Amino acid sequence: MWEADKDDLFGDAAEGRAAHTAGPRSVTGELTADDLEVDRTLRPKTLDDYCGQERVRENLRVLIQAAKERNEPLDHVIFSGPPGLGKTTLAGIVANEMGAKLHTTSGPAIERTGDLAAILTNLEEGDVLFVDEIHRLNHQVEEVLYPAMEDFFLDIVIGKGPAARSIRLDVPRFTLIGATTRTGLLTGPLRDRFGISYRLDYYSVEELARIVTRSAGILGVDIDEQGALEIASRSRGTPRLANRLLKRVRDYAQVKAEGSITWDVAAEALGFFEIDEMGLDWMDVKILTALAKTFRGRPVGLTTIASAVGEDPSTLEDVYEPYLLQKGLIIRTPQGRQATPLAFEHLGIVPPPTK
Ligand SMILES: Nc1ncnc2c1ncn2[C@@H]1O[C@H](COP(=O)(O)OP(=O)(O)OP(=O)(O)O)[C@@H](O)[C@H]1O
Ligand SMILES: [Mg+2]
Repeated sequence: MWEADKDDLFGDAAEGRAAHTAGPRSVTGELTADDLEVDRTLRPKTLDDYCGQERVRENLRVLIQAAKERNEPLDHVIFSGPPGLGKTTLAGIVANEMGAKLHTTSGPAIERTGDLAAILTNLEEGDVLFVDEIHRLNHQVEEVLYPAMEDFFLDIVIGKGPAARSIRLDVPRFTLIGATTRTGLLTGPLRDRFGISYRLDYYSVEELARIVTRSAGILGVDIDEQGALEIASRSRGTPRLANRLLKRVRDYAQVKAEGSITWDVAAEALGFFEIDEMGLDWMDVKILTALAKTFRGRPVGLTTIASAVGEDPSTLEDVYEPYLLQKGLIIRTPQGRQATPLAFEHLGIVPPPTK
């Protein structure tokens, strides 16, 4: 089942997003076609292969087993959290473990209620419908989705003006899996219709090292434990980045170090590619430098920072900010984002005197 539908998982939705986020190159930034290919080959297919997120994993294991024993579809699930932490991966795993057929789409791809009706009426009993970027569904589509999720029917209006009439269609019992990087943008009624909701967190260095080692095995790369830990510690808690850095380090090792990745080789390679010890890349450093130097540690609004560094405000908020916040390099105040003393220290900039 998984094999047949695997390509679906990186169909239009992901490619659409890659184009949408294309911009200046940064290690944490946009998804390239190459990244999507890496994601595809390295993506775990079972819960056993999925490293980390123990609570989510063990929870899902129980819920999936219970649903299977009752011969019922799993309740609707929503995964939220920063990019690259494994939301799409989990959607595939859930479908695979349920033995269900997976259909993939995304919020922006469902433009009209008719598009949604077509998708839903094509489902079969027990199928999984994965909607990536579900916070970007438009309002009319969302309204049609509510009864489909709750009571498995659709009310759609056919025709216009006085001739318009509403018809009710039954929908097979299915499982909706939503993914979002922005739980804050989900409407209350939509959020309430998911029986199961998980927020994915950044991974620990040890978990990422396990992911790096597993990926190295699949790619046929020779790596030792210290090498894996070094890559892991600079991957900003994110499996997609860990895999991306592994590939870059592999290239470096192949050219400069006879192929094997040890601690020295990893550290040297990551320095060469300008990934610092905290995993910050040049865009993170640019953001911090703007806050610390240009704005002299004062609170600054998102759009102002965005124009200072030449990045899209929503990318700043979704991709860069969560990690900088988590590492205590910036804080959010009612007046805006502010560099912390740790940021000044990390950049080696003397903080302005406090009055
Ligand atoms: N727990 C994990 N164990 C092993 N590999 C993982 C795990 N989570 C993610 N990965 C790897 O990271 C890649 C990116 O994960 P995924 O595409 O699922 O992230 P995402 O949360 O959907 O990101 P986005 O918000 O950008 O869509 C996967 O292809 C997989 O190779
Ligand atoms: Mg995804």
